[in-house]
Amino acid sequence: MPDTVSPQPAPRADDPRACTATIDPDCAQWLQASGLRPLRLRGRTLLPIVQGGMGVGVSAHKLAGTVASLGGVGTISSVDLRRHHPDLMERTHGLPPGAAARDAIDAANLEALTREIALARERAGGRGLLAINVMRAVTAYAPSITRALACGIDAVVVGAGLPLDLPELAREHPATALIPILSDARGVQLVVRKWERRQRLPDAIVIEHPRLAGGHLGAAKIADLHDPRFEFENAIPQSLAFLRSAGIEREVPIIAAGGIRTRADIRRVQDLGAAAVQMGTPFAVTTEGDADLAFKQVLAQASDADMVEFTSVAGLPARAVRTPWLDAYLRTEHKLQAVAHPKTRCTKSFDCLAQCGLRDGLAQWGQFCIDNQLAAAMRGDTRKGLFFRGVGALPFGEQIRSVRELMQQLMVPGQALLPSA
Ligand SMILES: Cc1cc2nc3c(=O)[nH]c(=O)nc-3n(C[C@H](O)[C@H](O)[C@H](O)COP(=O)(O)O)c2cc1C
Repeated sequence: MPDTVSPQPAPRADDPRACTATIDPDCAQWLQASGLRPLRLRGRTLLPIVQGGMGVGVSAHKLAGTVASLGGVGTISSVDLRRHHPDLMERTHGLPPGAAARDAIDAANLEALTREIALARERAGGRGLLAINVMRAVTAYAPSITRALACGIDAVVVGAGLPLDLPELAREHPATALIPILSDARGVQLVVRKWERRQRLPDAIVIEHPRLAGGHLGAAKIADLHDPRFEFENAIPQSLAFLRSAGIEREVPIIAAGGIRTRADIRRVQDLGAAAVQMGTPFAVTTEGDADLAFKQVLAQASDADMVEFTSVAGLPARAVRTPWLDAYLRTEHKLQAVAHPKTRCTKSFDCLAQCGLRDGLAQWGQFCIDNQLAAAMRGDTRKGLFFRGVGALPFGEQIRSVRELMQQLMVPGQALLPSA
């Protein structure tokens, strides 16, 4: 008997029916209604919205797992994750300074990373994509990547330095997406050329705008932050032109980061040729953000007039809210830099950074303990904390709303919002 039922054509990849395996059904509808293009990464169709990695402890399993569960890219920041695990903090508390203490802290952080990846995966329920963000500048860079790969992480994202050795570190993991964070076309060309020699291409590249993003910034010094080469209108088309000349334009999606707050912002960078956006601050202040409520309130209540750029202990420019601690520090920075000198050891026995302005006595760099300050912020200590933030008013102003509401607002603004979680 001939089959009288004509075969259904396969749904197009931008049809919500094609996405429901990886995207939450509501989000798939919103994506279709938004007119935005989905992100295609490693054979998956995803929301064109990446939640950037945020340390210390700002993006751990709750935030990353929730973003992934809706069909976005959720990113766990690898830095000092033991701070979310009281037993691991207990294990590393009050150890006599020295190499044994450092080894214990490193082991605790790798244990915490393993737990966070497992918890995030559980929360994601098989949707979206789960990534780990590791800063090139941290001492635990290679061990953190190796551990995350062993845990089966979907993607490794590296910022705060050029990850020229990432293909070697991930050689045994060809299915894992490798994503460098860069800020201009020169960086894109450099990384792609180096990686090509190792027979690996980036699976995507984040172009993070140093004039707009929060946290450490991809410019050599503060005076460079406004350089026109970083403008999306320049950096995105120039990066695409290079990728086109190398014949790999279709294989390496560009993800634009920094100051993205609305559907219009996403559309603007997609019109420039970007495939997706990465956002930090709007996700940091969501209900599911892993930091304390007071941390979220500091970010949500700050305006552009409250923001300040300074040189971090990692030697990179950084952007944060001018809170009491940062204001006091910046007023004494020149005095601290004048007496900078190499110390015999890290005050915390942690040696979190491979090169640290405070420990190594680098007079042009920051002179404070970044792990201390960022951990205080994560705990909601508004007096002592360092609160990284990107520029621009947030999608919900000062309100703390859920990741789902944020996704809806980013794709179909003006539609009746879901009730607050
Ligand atoms: C609180 C905070 C912490 C951050 N920590 C990191 C980090 O550890 N590693 C990293 O690559 N980027 C970090 N970022 C940058 C974000 O991942 C993201 O690219 C950036 O914030 C985008 O700009 P936006 O905040 O304006 O959206 C951080 C940003 C914030 C706001």
